[in-house]
Amino acid sequence: MNDKGAPQDESSPGIAELQSEIRLLEQRLRQAQQMEALGALAGGIAHDFNNILSAIIGFSDLAMDELPAESMPRANIDQVLKAGYRAKDLVTQILTFSRQVEQVRQPLQLHLILKETLRLLRSTLPSTIDIRHSIDKHCGPVQADPAQIYQILMNLATNAYQAMKNIGGILELSLTGIPVDEELAATCPDLKIGLYAALTIHDTGCGMDQETMQHIFDPNFTTKPVGEGSGLGLSVVKDIIRHYDGAITVSSQPGKGATFTIYLPQIEQEAIRSTTDPIENTGVGYRILFVDDEETVGEVVRQMLKRLGHQGTILTSSAEALDIFSKHPDDFDLVITDEIMPNLTGTELAYEFRKIRPDMPVVLTTGFVQPPSPQHIEAAGFKACLMKPFATQQLQEVIAHIFAPTA
Ligand SMILES: Nc1ncnc2c1ncn2[C@@H]1O[C@H](COP(=O)(O)OP(=O)(O)OP(=O)(O)O)[C@@H](O)[C@H]1O
Ligand SMILES: [Mg+2]
Repeated sequence: MNDKGAPQDESSPGIAELQSEIRLLEQRLRQAQQMEALGALAGGIAHDFNNILSAIIGFSDLAMDELPAESMPRANIDQVLKAGYRAKDLVTQILTFSRQVEQVRQPLQLHLILKETLRLLRSTLPSTIDIRHSIDKHCGPVQADPAQIYQILMNLATNAYQAMKNIGGILELSLTGIPVDEELAATCPDLKIGLYAALTIHDTGCGMDQETMQHIFDPNFTTKPVGEGSGLGLSVVKDIIRHYDGAITVSSQPGKGATFTIYLPQIEQEAIRSTTDPIENTGVGYRILFVDDEETVGEVVRQMLKRLGHQGTILTSSAEALDIFSKHPDDFDLVITDEIMPNLTGTELAYEFRKIRPDMPVVLTTGFVQPPSPQHIEAAGFKACLMKPFATQQLQEVIAHIFAPTA
């Protein structure tokens, strides 16, 4: 006796298979839509967030200079400043993942990032977590964006902490240089023969079973209660590592903790640049009009300009700025303006200023994560762009650039 339906061809997929493929595609589409929504949200908050960070970074930077070297308050404020810069990097980071903002890859000594991560973890995790480390300072540099490496470490350390939250335990971060040979390369398809830097994050927390481990890198996979985990952490980590031609491995057992190891290809040793030069009061005393509707940004810039020996006029309204400028156009040497403001935007303001004084240099300051292109800045009549958040040093550099003999 024959079945009612046609006999199934061995090579054509069955209905059940097609249905599961459709379900998979639907799931991927949902994930893509969520990533897009996250990107849009991040873009929206980045601007506001950078204004908040302008105050955190700006005021910390100012306070640092007032405090005696080697003092505890100075060291503490230095931590606030570093955390502020990291937060700035993370804003960029969310956008990098969701919108492919350009990364800043550079030869990177991983032990420096690791040290900073350890310091931050020590100041944020409770004392029930015993933080240990084992760092090989001679491990060669890798080519990477420091903000992304920091994000990888923070994502993994946060997971480790969450796995030990209720019971306490040991969190160990280690770095070592590893020559990957044929044997090791055979254990992980992403590894090739060569020299790698291996970062390991080990915890003694709740661990995972095999079934969970198979899904941990999927976007949206989480075992945490609603509101505690989005399930994005490890998928971000994996995505970053893939772009660096690296690899990630995990080993874990329920109740026996977890160990994540990240392999990044080492590069030839190169000099790492230092960016901290002392600020000097140039004392030239330019008259600078600063326009930003965010009051705290204005206040921090007022103090920065004073510190640099300039005369600042700080206004929070673009309409008022235009009014004052049109009455006293010769009272200013430079204008620095925010872009997004009620009434006139920074671009419109620059246009109006130049109608009154065509030689007036105007600098744009903006909290958008991606700087406008040089062509855009020039076309809008700006002399330069100052990205928020900024510290006294960057403000000083922009002013120096404007008044440099060749500018
Ligand atoms: N160190 C760990 N110990 C035990 N389980 C872990 C560990 N790290 C990750 N996991 C498991 O992997 C899952 C996915 O982790 P992932 O970081 O991607 O998302 P999340 O931590 O749940 O949420 P989010 O990172 O977005 O806040 C976690 O929910 C947890 O089940
Ligand atoms: Mg996580």
